[in-house]
Amino acid sequence: MKHISQAKEIIKENWRDGFTVPTSMLYPFQWMWDSGFVALGTSTYDIKMSLTEIDKMFSGQWKNGMLPHILFHSEKENTYFPNFDFWESSVNEGAPNSPKSSGITQPAVFGFILQEILRAHWKNEEVRKFVKDIFPKVVNYHRFLYDYRDPHKEGLFYIYHPWESGRDNSPLWDESMNKIEIPDGAIPSYQRRDTALANTNERPTQNQYDRYVYLLELGKKYKYDGRQIAEESPFLIQDNMMNAILIKSNQSLIEIASELDLDASEIKEWQELSLSNYDDKFWNEELGLYVGYDLRHNKQLLHKEIGGLVPLFANIPSKPKAAKMNNYLQDLTKRGYYLCPSFDVDSPLFESQRYWRGPIWPQMNYMLYKGLKNYEYLETAEIVKDDLNTLIDKLGFYEYFESQKEIVKHLSKGYGGGNFSWTASSYLLLNRKTK
Ligand code: GLC
Repeated sequence: MKHISQAKEIIKENWRDGFTVPTSMLYPFQWMWDSGFVALGTSTYDIKMSLTEIDKMFSGQWKNGMLPHILFHSEKENTYFPNFDFWESSVNEGAPNSPKSSGITQPAVFGFILQEILRAHWKNEEVRKFVKDIFPKVVNYHRFLYDYRDPHKEGLFYIYHPWESGRDNSPLWDESMNKIEIPDGAIPSYQRRDTALANTNERPTQNQYDRYVYLLELGKKYKYDGRQIAEESPFLIQDNMMNAILIKSNQSLIEIASELDLDASEIKEWQELSLSNYDDKFWNEELGLYVGYDLRHNKQLLHKEIGGLVPLFANIPSKPKAAKMNNYLQDLTKRGYYLCPSFDVDSPLFESQRYWRGPIWPQMNYMLYKGLKNYEYLETAEIVKDDLNTLIDKLGFYEYFESQKEIVKHLSKGYGGGNFSWTASSYLLLNRKTK
């Protein structure tokens, strides 16, 4: 609890004109799910900041409902690649001219975030009005996912770029990414910026980067129209985590609608369909976790990773399934890991320092904490919270963290960017008085 004021200070430093940047050098724009988590964090002490941030995010929504993963509010920043000129969102006629944006999305966090905010500020008329006004925009975003990204009408949407998942270079995507053949001349020459600003061994490799750029070009070729992209994209994945977050947010919207007297009939239909297919598609009994599904090659992605635990947050698993998920976490604790590594520590693909291939990510701990509490795994929930507190206390407000306790002993800082907004926000959320 001792770093509350420092956390607020970091968010203040990262505040720009109506929104926060994740961290000032590495990511100088507004990122979608970062923005949601930060708005939730600021709602614990400055509701105006929080509503302004959400509003700013929705100022970039496309006509077809898409919420872009990045809004480039400033066209002068040149420390990031791919920047707005590379994405060329104007190829889609429904993309706003300002702010410019990327052509992909990120996890659908705003439904549950609005509900948490509404609950905590129920008596504030301005908040109730805000939620009522923004509600149709959030619904429109969900409609986009069901309309454009669900070719077989299963209620489970796909992503065509790993960056959409929020877990950019997770080994989860390796097999599907490695199968991609890049035709000669299919990618223009480009200059990465991230490796000039962060440690190369904490960032994705060059090979991976070429494929990221290739998929981006594919999106552009089809004017970012999901229905056409689905026909050609060599990378077509139904991500269990993103679909769990959508289900969580659907549920929140349904509850908000009943509290504020709004129409939720369409959302209820989506929700029913999504829930009826979720377990069949994503549960893996042998691994004891949920996994993603490769829609291009018709098979599950057989890895244990952090996204496989997120269904707890959305109340999806039955009790026996949740028990298996809890055992997975308990086992890691007993073996000397802080919770929760982003990837299977026993896999040869695990890398403890590299981005989503092993390190602990703060906002994941927040969702896990809430999920474990849903199922009354209170002891594990406390570990998830305490571990993040310990890491922040010892290593600072970094983007992500080492999970092996033996190694952490000898470290003096975390990994990736410093003074990170959602790390600060997760800290505020996990340590607030009422939860
Ligand atoms: C990286 C992360 C992604 C995050 C972004 C900004 O791309 O993988 O989840 O939204 O950075 O912090």
